[in-house]
Amino acid sequence: MVAIEEQDTADGPPVHVAIIMDGNGRWALARGLPRLAGHERGAEAVRRAVQACRETGIDILTLYAFSSENWKRPPAEIDDLMGLLRIYLRREIADLDSRGVRLRFIGSRNRLAPDIIGLIEESEAKTAANTGLMLVIALNYGARAEITRAAQRLAEDVAAGTLSPAAIDEEALAARMETAGIPDPDLLIRTSGEKRLSNFLLWQSAYTELVFLDICWPDFSKDYLEAAIDEYHRRDRRFGASRG
Ligand code: FPP
Repeated sequence: MVAIEEQDTADGPPVHVAIIMDGNGRWALARGLPRLAGHERGAEAVRRAVQACRETGIDILTLYAFSSENWKRPPAEIDDLMGLLRIYLRREIADLDSRGVRLRFIGSRNRLAPDIIGLIEESEAKTAANTGLMLVIALNYGARAEITRAAQRLAEDVAAGTLSPAAIDEEALAARMETAGIPDPDLLIRTSGEKRLSNFLLWQSAYTELVFLDICWPDFSKDYLEAAIDEYHRRDRRFGASRG
């Protein structure tokens, strides 16, 4: 008998899909448009992706919206990205709520503008009891920082005498991650043809199937989600066990 988190979602849709939404800038460049136009079309692709996941019966969708490394971009582009997130949250909270979507944010809230933090808190509180798609938005997120913080929490508990070093196991660390309680992704999609994880869900994606699509994020649609799921179903997930 395999543990719940190791069950192969053999025929049905993957339970948890994570997406690295890459290629907004290249999409715009190829059309002679400013990068902002690529991000705007990227935000529209987010709407399509959420809808497609709901229609496909996926339980959890995690989107990499802004990495902790993205602060290295020019301030004007950071403002554009935060502005789009503001618009998305303001416009979509009520709609997402009415469709039973539960929003959750992972990533550090330091450096985020107070009104964005307000929108995050409002959207999480408003949708907390929903039981439809869980939409996890990774914002100012970096996996190494997340793992480091979880290690700090373990150390704090040991120092406080509430945890013995011998009791530290994978579960103890996972319980201190921001994704505590969320099953690991079954399928991780990255658009734009780049083939790397870029500090996204490093701990959680130990056994995740990775699918790289040669399209830029603004072109993402349900057809591409289905193509990625078809590829996922062709994979033989063994979680380290031998074939057979
Ligand atoms: C990568 O494209 C994309 C991002 C850094 C941000 C993703 C943001 C959005 C899709 C818009 C807003 C988000 C939400 C949740 C509404 P890139 O700029 O790195 O592309 P490039 O590699 O081609 O330059």
